[in-house]
Amino acid sequence: MNPQSGWSDHWFFGNGMVHGINITNGIASYKNRYIKTPYYEEDMDMMASSFDLKASPANTHVIRHAGKILTLEEAHLPWIIGDDLETVGYHDFDGKLDGPMTAHPRICPETNELLFFGYKMMAKPFLTYHRVSSSGELVQSEVIDIPRPVMMHDWNITRNFVIFMDLPLVFDMEQAMGGSDPFGFRPECGARLGVMPRNGSNKDIKWVNINPCFVFHPMNAYEEDNKIIIHVCRQNKAMVGGMDEIYGGDETTGKLWKWTIDLETLSCSEEQIDNRSCDFARVDDRKTGLKCTFRTLF
Ligand SMILES: [Fe+2]
Repeated sequence: MNPQSGWSDHWFFGNGMVHGINITNGIASYKNRYIKTPYYEEDMDMMASSFDLKASPANTHVIRHAGKILTLEEAHLPWIIGDDLETVGYHDFDGKLDGPMTAHPRICPETNELLFFGYKMMAKPFLTYHRVSSSGELVQSEVIDIPRPVMMHDWNITRNFVIFMDLPLVFDMEQAMGGSDPFGFRPECGARLGVMPRNGSNKDIKWVNINPCFVFHPMNAYEEDNKIIIHVCRQNKAMVGGMDEIYGGDETTGKLWKWTIDLETLSCSEEQIDNRSCDFARVDDRKTGLKCTFRTLF
């Protein structure tokens, strides 16, 4: 969201900038720095950057894991920054990661593993799962079969499972090549949740159908007996007005919903919790994937 030259100030495409506050001996100081990836240095546009896995806008999220601070954007590799916010370099886990990394990985508060996925739009595999040990080693990568390329912005973990959201915001190559919006909402493609053991693979996934919708950001997920509970900011539709209209009215605005997946019947009940607009819901990182209580503020 910090365009250095102005080709786009869209949320998805601005140059990433980190902001830091240092507190030493009771004195606070502030600093901000661009993440100096090829996207920044060469002032790339979206199309040019799509051919270079290192050319990340690095504009979506920042995490710290296994001693590294990673700046993230979902179509590229992560970039490491130092404690002084200086750009260190891209991170491919010693050459083991050869695809993009979501901007919304999860760090398990119990094992300190880093769990993430990557999705691709223009070539298979469309979805890959990755598991990183607490010491930062990429120890597992699994190709996950999904029928078509979709925008998969975020996901869920619990103590024993990861849950992918295969939702019908579909990448359309013909539209993209024609210069119009690359994503279209296609409810006729259906929507499903894929439940997989954290050390499992594609053959272990149980897919559960849900009503077509879109979710940018879940709040949290946890297990309860033989059920998985997920709270999400759920939209009835997505980007029906194109990428310039991410939140374009009530149908494309998130509301808090609760999904309850029954692991025996492989069905999901869906319940709207609140009618107010919301997105970017989250819980204390120490409760990621674990049961926690919450209340709405009003
Ligand atoms: Fe996000």
